[in-house]
Amino acid sequence: MTNVKDDVFHNRFSLSEWQEFGKASILDLILSEEYGYRPQSSKQKVQFIVAEEKHTDTIHIRKVYMLINGYKMKFHLYVPEGKKHNKAFVFVLHEYVENTSSSDLVNDYQSLKHYCDVDNVISRGYAIAFVSTKEVAPDKKYSKRASVIKALGDKKTASSWGAIQAWSWAASKVVDYFETLDDEIDLSKVAVIGHSRGGKTALLAASQDERFLLAVSSCSGNSGAALARNNTGETIDVITRAFPYWFCKNYKKYRNKEESLPFDQHQLIGLIAPRYVYVFSATGDSWACPKNELLSCRYASQYFNLYGVDGLIAPEEIEVGKSYQNGHIAYHIKDGIHNIETRDWNMIMDYFDKIGIN
Ligand code: GCU
Repeated sequence: MTNVKDDVFHNRFSLSEWQEFGKASILDLILSEEYGYRPQSSKQKVQFIVAEEKHTDTIHIRKVYMLINGYKMKFHLYVPEGKKHNKAFVFVLHEYVENTSSSDLVNDYQSLKHYCDVDNVISRGYAIAFVSTKEVAPDKKYSKRASVIKALGDKKTASSWGAIQAWSWAASKVVDYFETLDDEIDLSKVAVIGHSRGGKTALLAASQDERFLLAVSSCSGNSGAALARNNTGETIDVITRAFPYWFCKNYKKYRNKEESLPFDQHQLIGLIAPRYVYVFSATGDSWACPKNELLSCRYASQYFNLYGVDGLIAPEEIEVGKSYQNGHIAYHIKDGIHNIETRDWNMIMDYFDKIGIN
């Protein structure tokens, strides 16, 4: 039997070993040492309540509450008007701005333009849901605010879930809601997407929930798409001091000891194989370490190869601004900064269009 700690960059599993125990053992390591496990209580059914609804000429908008153990969270859902079987994005977003003065569902989504031009997404035939991650678990150190983590049982062990894991759970709950709808969403074509801390969340969500056909990581960097070893941007030391609550407590053991991690982030991507992953970086985002985001996609490819499909197909020299979309891992690096813009969305949707018809 293979020792998974031997050499994290060299997969030694055959496809049957990977399916029987390799994949589960790597997921187990990643959860126990980095993001923490979801508690048993998180498997309970969530109750969905449509709190508000509105129709524009082109969009059917809904604000949906999710209730579990008396705890309430929400997401906003935008579906192309009158259409069925839409492809869909679940966007895990920590800055969802709700217009509180008037309950204005249209202004709410327009205020998101710097993250996502919803009209553009809708015009290309996609539905999109925004999960308000702050309500799932507050994005703050020492927060006294309520969270689903508290509602489902307080953190108790060194491997209990942190906020990123809780946010990823919420993304899966949105898919549970899609399942209750009458064919509005094509359940075989659902993507999870997030920017930065949201990108870390999106990869983790898809690694645990096969209902996501595609995971999209925008500039997710350390503890997201980027390899931890030899990371020239953010380190585990820095991230676990600034954002300890994102992870389980065990993760601190690897401060300045990246070499002793029993896995690396390419394996998080590998867990999504043979489905699809889109990673993108920006030249001006050295904090996220683009070099290691790309390397991670290259190393992850071996897990896709196990299934007889290509991971990333891209030359040694990557062209800035070009989207490499011929394998099950797509990648681009843009000339720009740490953000997600319409030009990124367009490349992502080109890729989703392509995999959606295969
Ligand atoms: C900080 C953090 C990153 C994170 C980013 C974000 O910069 O160090 O790890 O990705 O915030 O979420 O915007």
